[in-house]
Amino acid sequence: MKGIILAGGLGSRLRPLTKVTNKHLLPIYDKPMIYYPIETLVRAGIHDIMIVTGGTSAGDFLRLLGNGAEFGLKDIYYTYQEGEGGIADALKLCEHFAEDNRVVVILGDNIVQDDIGPFVRRFEQQDSGARILLKQVEDPERFGVPELDGDRILRIEEKPDIPKSRYAVTGIYMYDRRVFDFIRKLKPSERGELEITDVNNHYIAEGDLHYDILEGWWTDAGQFESLFRASELVARGR
Ligand code: G1P
Repeated sequence: MKGIILAGGLGSRLRPLTKVTNKHLLPIYDKPMIYYPIETLVRAGIHDIMIVTGGTSAGDFLRLLGNGAEFGLKDIYYTYQEGEGGIADALKLCEHFAEDNRVVVILGDNIVQDDIGPFVRRFEQQDSGARILLKQVEDPERFGVPELDGDRILRIEEKPDIPKSRYAVTGIYMYDRRVFDFIRKLKPSERGELEITDVNNHYIAEGDLHYDILEGWWTDAGQFESLFRASELVARGR
């Protein structure tokens, strides 16, 4: 299993904080944001990690993280995403890194309390397909939202006006090799991005998208309120 952290984009929703630096280098309480997804992967037993960076200050990732010794890693792989093509566009850059392995993908601004190791083990036991993690939230309309029927996800809608459940699709995704074939089929959405929700809907169409529900706290940190909330959750969670 290999790990991929998506830390590109221009962080436009956090201007002017992101005018001269990359969103994932901003602080969450006492550490730079990018530390948290790295720690999440390492805690789950994943040591082969690719960071997709982009925008401004990309070189600062190297200065900050080096070869990952601080996290117990032998090295870290880096690649660079031009522009703001979306999550699936960033993931596309990792096809050669993934080789024949399955991947755990985490968005660089997703901070999670739970150890995701048990979910990764469950994914390893699947014959094929994908696995996503859901979290019950107060404001599902800000996220990808699943329509559920018991154990099945019928469909995921990206930022729907009328959410079909109280769950957010978190930015932690587990995929088999087919993910790169599905990405090749995508067309840009209205916001001009290749959407990860469309990738997940391809897996649903194949009957091969599974899910677990996070019990501990989870947040993204891409807007002022959620960035602030992330620091609060981390500070209180100790
Ligand atoms: C992205 C995904 C969305 C997901 C969210 C989790 O949203 O598109 O489906 O629920 O991450 O953080 P974005 O942050 O790009 O608006």
